[in-house]
This record gives sequence, C-alpha cells and structure tokens, in this order.
Amino acid sequence: METIDRTWWKEAAVYQIYPRSFCDSNGDGIGDLPGILQKLDYVQGLGVDAIWLNPVYASPNVDNGYDISDYFTIQPEFGTMADFDRLLGEVHRRGMRLVMDLVVNHTSSRHPWFIESRAGRNSPYRDYYIWRDPAPGGGPPNNWGANFGGPAWTLDEATGQYYLHLFAPQQPDLNWENPAVRRDVFAMMDFWFQKGIDGFRMDVISLISKGGFADGPLMANGVYGDPAPQCANGPRVHEYLREMNRRVLSRYDCLTVGENAGNTPEQACLYAGFGRGELTMSFQFDLMDVDGGERDKWTARRTWKLADIKQVMTRWQTALDGRAWNALFWENHDQPRCVSRFGDDSTGETRVRSAKMLATCLFLMQGTPYIYQGQELGMTNTHFDSIGQINDVQTRGGYRMRVEQCGDDPARVMETVNYISREHARTPMPWTDGPNGGFTDGVPWIPLNPNFKTINAAAQLADPDSVYHYYRALLALRKSDDVLLYGRYALEMADSPQVYAYTRTLNGRGALVACNFTGRPAPCPLPAAWQNVPRILGNYPDAPAGGALRPYECAVYLQPRA
Ligand code: GLC
Ligand code: CA
Repeated sequence: METIDRTWWKEAAVYQIYPRSFCDSNGDGIGDLPGILQKLDYVQGLGVDAIWLNPVYASPNVDNGYDISDYFTIQPEFGTMADFDRLLGEVHRRGMRLVMDLVVNHTSSRHPWFIESRAGRNSPYRDYYIWRDPAPGGGPPNNWGANFGGPAWTLDEATGQYYLHLFAPQQPDLNWENPAVRRDVFAMMDFWFQKGIDGFRMDVISLISKGGFADGPLMANGVYGDPAPQCANGPRVHEYLREMNRRVLSRYDCLTVGENAGNTPEQACLYAGFGRGELTMSFQFDLMDVDGGERDKWTARRTWKLADIKQVMTRWQTALDGRAWNALFWENHDQPRCVSRFGDDSTGETRVRSAKMLATCLFLMQGTPYIYQGQELGMTNTHFDSIGQINDVQTRGGYRMRVEQCGDDPARVMETVNYISREHARTPMPWTDGPNGGFTDGVPWIPLNPNFKTINAAAQLADPDSVYHYYRALLALRKSDDVLLYGRYALEMADSPQVYAYTRTLNGRGALVACNFTGRPAPCPLPAAWQNVPRILGNYPDAPAGGALRPYECAVYLQPRA
C-alpha cells in the first residue's frame, strides 16, 4: 500500500473572490465584504473548502488593492474590520477556510514606510526600500523595465536618488535585505493569523530577493531590460521564506501558495517541496504561456497547441509527484476567461460543453483546484472598443508601451488586449438577469459583460445541466475518491492532436479522464483495460460510443472499489 500524507489543503478546492467585482451591498457600484457575506451560501453550495480573497487592505487603488497603504486596515470601500471579522466567522461557521492575499514585494507609495523613506537620505526608513544613485552619466541606475510599462526606476527629485518599482511607480519595492522589513512583515502576518485566517496567497513572492542591479537583456518590447534574471528566484529568496516559515507559518495549520511566474518545476520543488519548510504549494504559469500570454503578453499569439498543454501539464504532474503539490488553475484575476481562450464561446452549446470539459481536464489532475469567481458559470470575455474603456493599470501600460514606444498599430494592439487583458476577469459577477445582473443597485465600477442576461448565477442554479451544477458534481467526485485526490498521473494517447487523456492510479485502482479539445468528433479508442469500466462523469447525457468523443466531450471512468 502506498501511504497517503493527507492534509486539508491537498483535498480542498479553493474559490477565488475579487471583492470589487463580486457583490455590492450598498449601491456605490463597488463590491464589498457585506456583499460577500450575502453570497457565502452560494459559494458553499458549490462545494469548495476555502476562499481566497484578493487584497482587501487600505489602498489608493492604482492596482486595485495590490498597492497597500495600510496592512492593518480594511479598504473603506470594502467595509470595516468588524465586517471582516463577521465574514471570517461566517466562513468558518460553514466549515470553510479563508486565505488572504499577501502583497509584500512592494507597498503603495502612500504607505507611511515609503513616505518616511523618501523624506530624506538619513531617514530611519530609507533602507525599507531600494534606493540607488543615478547612472554615472545621469538617468536611471540600469535599463530595467517595469511590469506595467515604462522604466522600473523613478527619480525622487528631493533626495536625488531613484527608487525601484518592478510594477507601477506607485508600488515601490520593499528591501527584504533589511531585517527590520522582514520583522515588520512577519508581525503583520501574525496579526492576521491571530484573527484566525487560514493562509496566504503570496503575491509575486519569487521577486523579493534582488540579486544584483546590472542591466538586463532586452525584453520583448525591445525598449527595456528584463529584471527577471536578477530579481526572480534571487539568491536569498529561500532563506527569507524559511525564516518566514520558522517565525510565522510553522505556528499555524495554513495553506500557503506562492505566485511564482516563470518558475520551472524544479524551482517549484524548492518553494513548495515537502519538508522544506517554505510554502505548501506554488502556482505555475507555463500553462498560461502556451499562447505567449505570459512572457510576451502584448504580442500574444491568439492560438495554442494541445500538444503544448499536454507537455506542460505532464511535466508538472510528473516532476512534482511525491515531491511537492500542484496548484491548478485556468483563471484568476490576471487572466482572461478560459472558455474564451481555450474553449469555444461562440455558441451557447459549445460554451457550456467546453467550459465543463476544461474544468474536468484540469481539476482531476493531482493538485488543489483554484476556481475564479464566475468560472463556475462559464463566464466569457467581454469586448473593449478602445483602451479608454479599460481600468486596469497593466493593460493601459502595456498598450501605451506598444503604441508609443514600439510603434505598433493601435488597432492590432487592441486585438491583443481583447484576447489577453485581465480586465476580462474583472467584469462584475452576474447574479441575475435583472438590472446590472443584480451586482449593484447603483452604477457598477466597470460594466458587466452584456451577456449577463443569459449567463448568470440564478439561471444556472435553476438548470441542472448548467456549468455551475457540473462544477459541483466534479468537485464532489474529486473529493469522493483518493484515486482522484492522490493518485499518480500518467499521460495516455500522447500523440492525439485532439484528445487530452490521462490516468490517475493509486494502490492498483485507477481513473481515466478523456477530453476532446476540439469542436469535431475525435477518435478516442479506449485502452482494453478500460472498456468495461463505468463512465461516472461526462458532459453529454450518455457515455461515448464507437471509440470516439463528440465535440468538446469529456468522460471520466473510475474503476469501482473491490
Ligand atoms: C500579481 C497580482 C497582480 C498585481 C501584481 C502586482 O501578479 O496577481 O494582480 O498587479 O502582482 O502586485
Ligand atoms: Ca459597495
């Protein structure tokens, strides 16, 4: 018998809530904590075990909460600390857990630490951030570009030095070399654990250790140098995480997941390897890069190959097995909607089928599923006519850079924006087909996707064949059997250009998952051993027949217990 090392966070499914766009309780057009409270029964009904909340801390909102000005205060638009405490209590009362966002690579430029830091070269907080003199001939200390366009350095006129910001200028990077920064961050984490939260999703945590400040190789934009070779997985990052674990995390039974863009599976095994005393799991972004959506966002290809998806997922499933734990996602608040990107949203039927197929393919692999709000409805991308309609700082910065600095045709850049922008994920949740989809009684902070009349929670709750009910069944199935939770993964039919099939095996019993990623019938001859095994889940009323899968069909076979 293989022994199973059970933990709650391996068996859990996580539901991600983007508070601004989830539910508005007071008519100001902005989702808030009391709104989330109203919808907890809905979330629980889906069968998830934990909620990950995007940042709810005080923030000037340059990057919608990822620029924090006070880690100990709730963003007033979202409510009060009393609202938070009530939410936490109600989540726990329903047997679920609450995971917060930890944003500590940078703060807001309006955080008191930064205000003090820029006050003068001798400020006791100077060293909380990364300050450098201008280059010998003047100008920024090196050629690095920021993640949201423009240079990664901004000059502070008063003190004559530049500060580093890998994201917007209003998001100065903290200096983790400074023990006082680490002490203060750890104390802040402890404050939230003492309240009773169940973990942290760690924003761009692989960037906290800067290894050097030499020029970087030119990025895809051809204008700026890439900070990643020196800033991603820097020399002290594992030392910092072990210190964090020793001083804080190890004292709580918590889920921790690192946002580690650009990580290889080998690196993930360092961040989240069993017994290493760092994090419990790690997000990988190779899957999000099969269409160039990560490394080359603003010139992303609008196509991808199933062979690449298979190769990426098989590499991660295999490399982490027995060594570390996968975090599985198709969507989050930084990605477009998966049914538009990897499925087919062109008709109601293909949308529903392909949304169910995508969920089946990914969430029955080994790892913890992360479901982004609205994904369980098969929400689609919306359409933007012009950049002026977009709120997101990353999309606006990327657009400006391509058009103004790279000389791209604005219409073409808008096509890419419509393909890949994270603004798609941020359109408000459609609860009903009523005014503003029941999201708000006022004017929503950004418009809903106009298809909320047909794609909304109320309609799907009432329809047993909806994407929502399929997600419920899928999550329940996953949790019902150790084969699906802990079984070893193996790719099947590796050469099929249409079908992604794999098995999960544990102690001699197995499951087979087969998914047609195309809108055409696909040959899918079942291996002999599986021919009499019952199909226990699928997105057509009956099991596939004749050795083929129908368009976007998925089927799950599970060998009965002896
Ligand atoms: C992460 C967040 C993203 C944010 C960025 C800067 O990638 O997921 O939303 O803009 O970090 O904090
Ligand atoms: Ca509100």
